[in-house]
Amino acid sequence: MKLRFKLAVLGIISFLLLSNNAYSDQKLPFVESVVIFNTVCAKCHEAQCSGRMSFDDAYESSKNHIIRHYGEASDKQWLRKELFTILNYMKVKCAYYPMESALPPKRVWEHDILNKMVTLLERNYFIPLGPFSEGKYRIDLALERDTKVTIHLVSEDFDMAIDDCFLSKNMAVKIPFSITEPGNYYFRMYPQEPVRITRLTVITE
Ligand code: HEC
Repeated sequence: MKLRFKLAVLGIISFLLLSNNAYSDQKLPFVESVVIFNTVCAKCHEAQCSGRMSFDDAYESSKNHIIRHYGEASDKQWLRKELFTILNYMKVKCAYYPMESALPPKRVWEHDILNKMVTLLERNYFIPLGPFSEGKYRIDLALERDTKVTIHLVSEDFDMAIDDCFLSKNMAVKIPFSITEPGNYYFRMYPQEPVRITRLTVITE
């Protein structure tokens, strides 16, 4: 009787271990896939909150569509899968896909974090800036060289706090803004020509 009990306990423990393993094998999308989705695909799919995909075979039937909008995905099935997963998440949860990124102390993002939040070719950036309360702030960008950039600051409810174009001067852009709706905010940048952000600072004014 005792032995049987021990075996049963062992059985339960190994089941838990195995199922836990099976769970951790389900890979979460890479940060770059989330950035691609939230810059390239977001132009049409941002804030689509319909609750589900339109078609049951949406993954198969969307292959050419995804490649048309992001050519890099043509020979990368894993990337198409991840982009699909991210769209599904947005449709069901009506939210940005969570990104693993600790907020830097003092709200200064240095190149080590910035280099992960960018698409490799276009240098589109998408960076979670964390929670904001009501108030006046400024974003200071340091760029690797001067160019024109389109900047968005979007709330977790998809409201735009900044939607504007800026020409950098002395490799810097300063963007004052006000927050009236407290919550999490996301920074997005489309540069006219690929350019690296070397530092992003959020200042409370
Ligand atoms: C120029 C606008 C535009 C861009 C950019 C765009 N799409 Fe779409 N996409 C659409 C439209 C329109 C549909 C069909 C209607 C719908 O489901 O929204 C669609 C449908 C889809 C579907 C099928 C959805 C369903 O419910 O069945 C997927 C998956 C998809 N797009 C993925 C992507 C991905 C990934 C990207 C980025 C690489 C992307 N799209 C970029 C406009 C766009």
